[in-house]
Amino acid sequence: MTNLSGLQILLFSFIIATGAISVVSGTVFTIVNSCSFPVWPGIITGDNGLQLNGGGFDLTPGASVDLTAPAGWSGRIWGRTGCNFDAFGNGKCLTGDCGKLQCSGAGGTSPVTLAEFTIGLGGAIDFYDVSLVDGYNVQMEIKTQGGSGDCQNVGCVSDVNKICPNELTVPNPNGGDVVGCKSACEAFGRPDYCCTGAFNKPETCPPTHYSRIFKTACPKAYSYPYDDATSTFTCANANYSIIFCPIST
Ligand SMILES: *[C@@H]1O[C@H](CO)[C@@H](O)[C@H](O)[C@H]1NC(C)=O
Repeated sequence: MTNLSGLQILLFSFIIATGAISVVSGTVFTIVNSCSFPVWPGIITGDNGLQLNGGGFDLTPGASVDLTAPAGWSGRIWGRTGCNFDAFGNGKCLTGDCGKLQCSGAGGTSPVTLAEFTIGLGGAIDFYDVSLVDGYNVQMEIKTQGGSGDCQNVGCVSDVNKICPNELTVPNPNGGDVVGCKSACEAFGRPDYCCTGAFNKPETCPPTHYSRIFKTACPKAYSYPYDDATSTFTCANANYSIIFCPIST
């Protein structure tokens, strides 16, 4: 063992301090509830990574929460509606349900509008999209904050529940409104709607009558599995707002 000089100690302290700073920095997701009703965001990290905020929490109308994701984070964020949880966080939701308040790695039940992110490592570009491939439950927009590159605001701003074909609707079991709109894949299980079997390539799985209804309502969201060209977006070194009901009605 050698004794450390004052300069070496200073150097090590500097390395530790800067290391700590780089752990603290990351991509900030500001999750905003602009709906007139409560939303319970659910978040799932891919590859069994760190679950942000335990993977779920409640957001009253007008409230927002900042979450910080580390570089390289990938995952999905969605909104749950009509939830009831007990003091232990056990319970369920009418849409987007994962079985408890903190989803802790469990996904949401479809139909559900999804925001999907892959954050770049070391300043590389981020990929993001809003997807209706698993159906739709609530209006959702991703807005970029800062960053460089194409950086478009994207999502599904119109209320698809209002234009959902009868055969795809999920009615509120308590009576009243449509609470979700299924994908044609989920509703009918056909390989041409699901892009499976002989239809498992972009060339053999074109848009369908149903995917076009979603695309017309929400041009900057995935309407079926091979909708990449008009649905995936990129931006570098940005923060993102994820807004439920960006245009309040
Ligand atoms: C992202 O948010 C953090 C924390 O508020 C801030 O320090 C950083 O400058 C923001 N980045 C961009 C690109 O706006």
